[in-house]
Amino acid sequence: MHPLRKLLFVAVLVSCAGAGSARAWGPEGHQAIAALAEALLDEGARKALLELLEKDQQLSDFDICVWADNVKKDLKNGHWHYVDIPFEKDDYVPERDGKDGADVIERIAHFTAVLKDKKAEKAERVKALKYLVHFVADLHQPLHCIERDHDQGGNKCLVTMPGKTEQSNLHRVWDLDFVSLVLNKAVPAAYGAKLAEDEVSKMEAGARAKLAAGTATDWALEAHAVGKKDVYEGVKSGDTLTEAYVTQAAIVTKRQMLAAGVRLARVLNETLNPKEEEKTADK
Ligand code: ADE
Ligand code: ZN
Ligand code: ZN
Repeated sequence: MHPLRKLLFVAVLVSCAGAGSARAWGPEGHQAIAALAEALLDEGARKALLELLEKDQQLSDFDICVWADNVKKDLKNGHWHYVDIPFEKDDYVPERDGKDGADVIERIAHFTAVLKDKKAEKAERVKALKYLVHFVADLHQPLHCIERDHDQGGNKCLVTMPGKTEQSNLHRVWDLDFVSLVLNKAVPAAYGAKLAEDEVSKMEAGARAKLAAGTATDWALEAHAVGKKDVYEGVKSGDTLTEAYVTQAAIVTKRQMLAAGVRLARVLNETLNPKEEEKTADK
């Protein structure tokens, strides 16, 4: 496609993304997180990726990092994108929090195993890669790991942004509005790459390893705690959010995006090109 046509196509896609119900970090959030992770891949993982991706394809391409949102309606697997851990609980109970035996935590484990399996069909491993890049990011949107009074992760909690008249909902402002504030008009993939250079590469090795550590369950429970404290506290349906809330939400959003990118890079480094001791490790 001609570059200008591609740009127009992408602009239309982004504007359409505003319609309908919330759909996990919007495309911008997914692109920034995927680009951050891509910048942190080691040599072995990069090489393995070349065999799975098409020429010039990148993790931050819509086709990779947003694909799962684009197919979820047709495939009726929207529940793979979140885990409904109740507000008042602080543990993860698969039978309670998932649907039909599936949720975002369980799917991350599943697709990690498929991607790691060199004997699996290439098409299956590519699909697993797309889901993994998307779901590790979704898991870090706090409202993908919590719900209060069956509000579907804030989708039913109606809120208005300060200074706006049209009503939105809590889930949607965390998927889209705060990410836009964080990006501040930067190109999402460029923003992700810049986070790698300006922030992650300057972290002490120990701090970076600590951030990257843990399991999907650990990260979901951390997101759940963030949801309780920084998302739901002081907010009820019908509210107009305060400027102070929005300022704090942008800080939290940036922190969650950074953690998502660093952890996704670790998952991909270990999965695409496992070192000997990781090949048999029980994850
Ligand atoms: N639908 C039900 N719960 C949800 C959640 N936590 N996130 C997105 N959509 C949902
Ligand atoms: Zn999603
Ligand atoms: Zn969402």
